[in-house]
Amino acid sequence: MLFSNPNAKREAYPQSLQKIMSIKQANESRNWLSKWNQLSATATPLWDLRDLAKQLNVEKICVKDESYRSPLGSFKALGAPIALVRLILQLFPEKNFNAQALLAGDYQGQLGSFTAISATDGNHGRALAAAAQSVGCRCVIVLHANVSVEREEAIAAYGAEIVRIAGNYDESVERAATLARENQWYVVSDTSYEGYEIIPRDVMQGYGTIAAEIIEVSEASQREGRPFTHIFLQGGVGGMAAGLASYFWELYGVDRPTLVVVEPSQADCLYQSALNGQASNATGSVDSVMAGLACGETSPLAWKFLGESVDHFMLISDDDAVAAMRVLAAGSGNDVPVVGGESGVAGLAGLINLAGAPADAARVGLNKGSRVLIINTEGATAPSVYEELVGESGESVQKRQQSWLSIHKH
Ligand SMILES: Cc1ncc(COP(=O)(O)O)c(C=O)c1O
Repeated sequence: MLFSNPNAKREAYPQSLQKIMSIKQANESRNWLSKWNQLSATATPLWDLRDLAKQLNVEKICVKDESYRSPLGSFKALGAPIALVRLILQLFPEKNFNAQALLAGDYQGQLGSFTAISATDGNHGRALAAAAQSVGCRCVIVLHANVSVEREEAIAAYGAEIVRIAGNYDESVERAATLARENQWYVVSDTSYEGYEIIPRDVMQGYGTIAAEIIEVSEASQREGRPFTHIFLQGGVGGMAAGLASYFWELYGVDRPTLVVVEPSQADCLYQSALNGQASNATGSVDSVMAGLACGETSPLAWKFLGESVDHFMLISDDDAVAAMRVLAAGSGNDVPVVGGESGVAGLAGLINLAGAPADAARVGLNKGSRVLIINTEGATAPSVYEELVGESGESVQKRQQSWLSIHKH
């Protein structure tokens, strides 16, 4: 399902938005993260899938591969540490902490009384737990009923205390807020709500690193103008899409690429927001194999950025996502095999759907000249789910990737 946003604008990045998120702040976040030992020291790969581009009738498909970002498995490793560090700097100005040194653990022992808490679908909580462990503070993570035990264990491995509730994601967000109020803990959430915007803003700003790296490698090689005509961004609460949309909008202004946001049809909060012209809730069951995208409530702060910059909103099925996982994993003569998790491949699944629906593809302006950017936001973050869905383990796909790369070195 495709909805073309009547409120999408082609104009310079508004100053009102630049005051909230900017390339300058994104670059500062990137610098702070540059020494964190939970992140890859080099930029994540930008794969050029030539066979797939031919098959889908576009000029280029590049996949920014965030499965390489961190042992934490996803791009979320860029958000939580930044928000946590900015919060600690703000709460303890007298201590004169240095941001990089905080993440390096230089002040371990000085933050024992400070507790960070958040709800999560998995990836954000894992990143927050790891960041808390690095800086040396306590971390409590609230999990809803559908978060797998595998994801829970991955979070607990970083020393976080787990609170499990019977309800869904949105109820876990509420529980985290209540626990914080009762115990004087600090919520470090990736979604905003009324009166709570600074921290989710900092989380989103951390994601700007992805855009910065893409620009650095792709712009130099581009003959003219923008390296990409289309960018597909998957949406949960909208934070990742907003962080990247803001960066590309500020950089390219009226010439920004066409932006397409893709969600599971059961968790269609951003799609509904576009239909209603304001941040809205999902209408479906909010239960999807795409665990990271199974969010029922749009982040109002993210919507401030998406409502006027995203040209099209799409819904996909769980089967579409599984098919896209298999396409990426398979690779081909010219295409490297890639480990893309359930939520990681949603953008690609959206593109594949459009390629099979010529009228919709025409509406989005996809054609033989299109240069498409996809973000693979996670690897096999739930390894057993990945193996079951793809029919091969993430490690095995990774091994095939290594042998493909050794053959295609030049
Ligand atoms: C792998 C992955 N991709 C995309 C998203 C969507 O991010 P957001 O909720 O900021 O829209 C998530 C969220 O958890 C995720 O885990």
